[in-house]
Amino acid sequence: MRKCVIVANWKMAKTRAEAVAYINALVPAVQSNSATLGIAVPFTAIDAAASAAQGTPIQIGAQNMNSNPEGAFTGEVSAVMLRDAGAQFVILGHSERRRLYSETNAEINKKVRQALKEGIQPLLCIGETLEEREAGKMEEVLKEQLSASLEHVSASQLANLWIAYEPVWAIGTGKTATAEQAESAHAFCRSVIEKLWDKQTADRVILLYGGSVNPKNAADLIAQPDVDGLLVGGASLTVESFVQIVKEAAKTDK
Ligand code: PGA
Repeated sequence: MRKCVIVANWKMAKTRAEAVAYINALVPAVQSNSATLGIAVPFTAIDAAASAAQGTPIQIGAQNMNSNPEGAFTGEVSAVMLRDAGAQFVILGHSERRRLYSETNAEINKKVRQALKEGIQPLLCIGETLEEREAGKMEEVLKEQLSASLEHVSASQLANLWIAYEPVWAIGTGKTATAEQAESAHAFCRSVIEKLWDKQTADRVILLYGGSVNPKNAADLIAQPDVDGLLVGGASLTVESFVQIVKEAAKTDK
């Protein structure tokens, strides 16, 4: 059975002190929860957040990294540095990175492979824009993003990777995909993975949905057979709302 994974993406929010206060409040509230919980924090808060989360089931991650092992890349952060700071996973290929920082599938693929090499679990984000969806290109875009971003990644490495389907039109817009739209995109992604790797790998890979997830829609989304988890942006910024999402998801017995 696939495990339920719920990840908070704080984006560019929270100081170290705010991160620690959040984690200290979150831990007792999710004590009996069985889902895997992660928080993708800003680089500057990784160290403090990882210390606060030590000995708890909460995993701390980053939101980006450089694809090179080290070198003259002013302002960049490597996978080794993330691991050293205490990050266990890293969001890669988020649509904000693709759009605002021109990240390509080829560059994201380099990052994915470098993260895997250094033992950091990638959380690969894929998803179509509204324009692509309306032009009937959703499947083509998802297939290309999956095959190019995961080129030369083996079936066994895929077991150490999470994939988030985040339709760009649903991110930060309050316009969530319906549970049916999420399920059909997830089922499609699983079928692509089956074609590119094999059925066993496709059955095992963890697929998260992201894009305007909130306490009201979380249960419906997670109840879908191919939706294994959630990636939550805005609604993860307060402990109360993130805990509510975790509790709503737990009602579905995943
Ligand atoms: P949102 O962001 O929940 O605020 O739409 C999700 C994400 O960008 O990962």
